[in-house]
Amino acid sequence: MEVLSVTSEIYPLIKTGGLADVAGALPGALAATGVAMRTLVPGYPAVLSRIEERREVAQFSDLFGVTGRLIAGRVAGLDLIVLDAPALFDRPGNPYMGPEGWDWPDNWKRFAALSWVASELGLGLVDGYRPHLIHAHDWQAGLVPAYVKFGPSSTLKTVMTVHNMAFQGTFGVDIFWQLRLPPHAFSVYGVEYYGGVGYLKSGIECADAVTTVSPTYAAEIRTPDFGSGLDGLLNNRASTVFGVLNGIDMNAWNPATDPALVQNYTASTIQNRLVNKRAIQEQFGLEPLNVPLFTVISRLTGQKGIDLLADNIDYLVSLGGQLAVLGSGEAHLENAIRSATQRHPGKVGLVTGYNEKLSHLLQGGADVIIVPSRFEPCGLTQLYALRYGCIPLVSRVGGLNDTVIDANVAAMQAEVATGVQFAPPTGPALGDALRRTFELYADERSWKKMQRRGMKSDVSWETSAARYAQLYASLTGMSLNDDA
Ligand code: ADP
Ligand code: GLC
Repeated sequence: MEVLSVTSEIYPLIKTGGLADVAGALPGALAATGVAMRTLVPGYPAVLSRIEERREVAQFSDLFGVTGRLIAGRVAGLDLIVLDAPALFDRPGNPYMGPEGWDWPDNWKRFAALSWVASELGLGLVDGYRPHLIHAHDWQAGLVPAYVKFGPSSTLKTVMTVHNMAFQGTFGVDIFWQLRLPPHAFSVYGVEYYGGVGYLKSGIECADAVTTVSPTYAAEIRTPDFGSGLDGLLNNRASTVFGVLNGIDMNAWNPATDPALVQNYTASTIQNRLVNKRAIQEQFGLEPLNVPLFTVISRLTGQKGIDLLADNIDYLVSLGGQLAVLGSGEAHLENAIRSATQRHPGKVGLVTGYNEKLSHLLQGGADVIIVPSRFEPCGLTQLYALRYGCIPLVSRVGGLNDTVIDANVAAMQAEVATGVQFAPPTGPALGDALRRTFELYADERSWKKMQRRGMKSDVSWETSAARYAQLYASLTGMSLNDDA
């Protein structure tokens, strides 16, 4: 079976968050199930400069008013189709924002073009390639299901995956007439959303199935608190909304072979993590002490609960801990952490910016990763942490709820705990969880056991890739090895 995945970012070419990791890992994971996945991505400079075995497979003389072409090629084992439209995508840096931090004003057009091209591919635009199903990720690919639903009739099926309900791609009504959709697509059964155009809303409405990235988030988004206004729509189509948990790339994230670590290790040589801990302490300007070292690797935003963290840094230090933060985001949150580094020299360190290599080292040497999110569709850093023997301390929401087993009394007695959870996502609840974590850390033997359990827990793609494959099969009516 041939599936076309449509995404605005993909690891290792362009990444602002977990979507890239998922889009980059899914094709490899699906290959084992008999699904051949190609991925359509925008031709950002970071993509075009790295694509290999390139072949031009289509040209557009009028792609929403600009010219463009499709280049098929491969990078890092991925089969890509790249939309090379310089007027839309030849911009450096972040895929969505200009250097001043504002969304590009023509984002509606950039991602409408991406989605329209996907639907054309689905109709057989390129000789010898005709996917059976298109899998669209997030609002940037949100119009794909509408182009398919309101386009020429075909057997093509669509799946819409919501990685984050908070980003919806909503625009004014004036763009509608430029979207190449028939007038009747502007309705509640199409792209219309509160009088304007909603890309994610449209995807949820028009796709044959909707998935999100954890079972708990799939339930949460059907409530007003997490649904960001789309909970009613999701409830209407509840029988076709599924939560499929993300996995991780077990090769890219393997402490036994990871080149970003100073010292590799396995569950049986877990004491070697200390070498990495010392390297972190050095890079973050922390004293080389044997005290609990906490880390945060995150976008610094309200979603991620970074304000709750900032409120607890003095407490964490007063309990005898150290903190190494890697992240960038909202200025006031960055400043709050920076001022903590000044209050606590040698105990709190901050590295701003995006640093993939350092994120691996932190997982390989810190004792605890804190993920205090207010909402978290899945979350990947706690999965990397489990694999690396770094204990996750997480709020009990979304995918964090589904992937970490809290060290409560029963779970410790049954020897199944893998981390610490707290609820609700508030400063005091996080403080209480920090206190509990220090108590757990003090019992060295049971702490090590908990680390080893985490390292053995299944965070691979295997189960979830099989679930996606089953979903594709049930929608297309095909069996998985069917190429017809
Ligand atoms: P989200 O996609 O909401 O940001 P996820 O936990 O799903 O959250 O994915 C975040 C991804 O980005 C992870 O791979 C994490 O390691 C990475 N990451 C976040 N911030 C940084 C940073 N400053 N430097 C390097 N990697 C980062
Ligand atoms: C989003 C979510 C995150 C999830 C990622 C990949 O960015 O915020 O929770 O892990 O997508 O699905």
